[in-house]
Amino acid sequence: MIGIFDSGIGGLSVLAAIARALPHADLVYLADTAHLPYGDKDDAYIRRRVLTIGNHLVDRGCGVIVVACNTATAAAVEAFRETFPKLPVVGVEPGVKPAAAMSRSGRIAVLATLSTARSERLAQLIRQHAGSVQVEVEACPGWATRVETLSLDDPDFVEEARGHLTPLLATGVDQIVLGCTHYAFLSPVLEPIVAHQATLVDVADAVARQCVRLAGTDALGGGRLTLLATAQPEKLQAALPVLGLRWLDDRLHSAARLVIA
Ligand code: DGL
Repeated sequence: MIGIFDSGIGGLSVLAAIARALPHADLVYLADTAHLPYGDKDDAYIRRRVLTIGNHLVDRGCGVIVVACNTATAAAVEAFRETFPKLPVVGVEPGVKPAAAMSRSGRIAVLATLSTARSERLAQLIRQHAGSVQVEVEACPGWATRVETLSLDDPDFVEEARGHLTPLLATGVDQIVLGCTHYAFLSPVLEPIVAHQATLVDVADAVARQCVRLAGTDALGGGRLTLLATAQPEKLQAALPVLGLRWLDDRLHSAARLVIA
């Protein structure tokens, strides 16, 4: 069984990629909806949440854990690995490396939560993998919460998104990294704004490939999906069709449930 978690519905973008790659794996998705957004919390808070949720998923029998959240990975994946040294843990980090490799203009941008944007882990990722390109890090406060409301094409948001992206495009940025798992669901809004100038870079499929490599016997099961949340579990299931993930309904084992984590 593979446990996947995020602050809310953003990690469903990663869950979908894993579900496609591992059709027989039993998957547990936990949304920490009582504590979202993570992006405006301090590291200590995020670390406490990650350890609490990780413990819960391990107690449920998950043999692989996917931290389907860039913010939680940046703030807490090391602490998590130290707590569970034998457990395979897959983190999600902004696709700086592929973006740098694909850039022709030598300028890329990373869209992220406030917490990820100011993290030392992102700074390190950029130093390691994007030495030869110019990287603009753009914090997008409120965007993950916008996804949670499921009103993705609100004209006010389209304007706000344009306000963030237009100046980046004007500097010649040609790769825009979606550095928060929620932002994958904003692609239909972002794509037309960046069209013909830049490509959106998402790492969900790469994370799924890493999960396949680590899954071992956890890839073998009944292909069942369990959805859990720390608040408003019904929202999780209701989000599936809105986010284009109705097909995941077929794997749903039972109605989304509340867990106290
Ligand atoms: N989806 C998360 C990420 O990838 C966190 C969003 C939030 O809760 O602020 O960063």
